[in-house]
Amino acid sequence: MKKIIIAIDGPAGSGKSTTAKIVAEKLGYIYIDTGAMYRAVTLACIEQNIEINDNELNKIVDNINIELKQSNLGQRTFLNGRDVSDDIRRPDVTKLVSPVSAMSYVREKMVEQQREIGKNGGVVMDGRDIGTVVFPQAELKIYLVASIEARAERRLLELKQKGFNTTVEEIMKQISDRDHYDSNREISPLRKASDAIEIDTSNITIEEQTSKIIFYAQKLLE
Ligand code: DC
Repeated sequence: MKKIIIAIDGPAGSGKSTTAKIVAEKLGYIYIDTGAMYRAVTLACIEQNIEINDNELNKIVDNINIELKQSNLGQRTFLNGRDVSDDIRRPDVTKLVSPVSAMSYVREKMVEQQREIGKNGGVVMDGRDIGTVVFPQAELKIYLVASIEARAERRLLELKQKGFNTTVEEIMKQISDRDHYDSNREISPLRKASDAIEIDTSNITIEEQTSKIIFYAQKLLE
């Protein structure tokens, strides 16, 4: 059976990872969270006390190994062989990830790895530039959006479950700063591909958003 590439892009907190994970499960595809890769680079910078500039980042990117492995807990992210899946969600990583991911060499290396992972299809990949840069030929492109309030509420719940103490106002500020940075960077900014299907997830359930995507995917697979 034909295996397609499903690209899911959108701003922070729009529901990409939850949706992509369920869609992948239902189709028997691999789910790839590309944000985790940029987060792993950022964690390496923090741990090695690296300044965020081209010179330093180029060195670090050439000397670290990032692997994404599938497990029954979902995708696990490894940095130099160590499982960093929880650490990469830390607020200090989230704060620094946008400037790190804006660096050209970092993007070049991560995109290379993402293309390799997805080259045979059968993947649901989420990020910011999957439909525009990583796989412009993806058969199905989805662009998820949601109101800033809905996105902040979701992140707040996620962070509280993980034991982080924060407020909805603080998260709203972080999300809008990150959106601004991710949308205005020079290389591969967050953008909706011209052939992407936009879904607003502010007022629909996860079930509804995933069924819509499965419906489009099945039409392509028929
Ligand atoms: O999806 P996320 O919040 O975990 O992503 C973290 C950051 O990584 C996000 O602020 C921008 C960057 N990113 C990117 O530039 N390109 C991608 N394909 C995925 C994430």
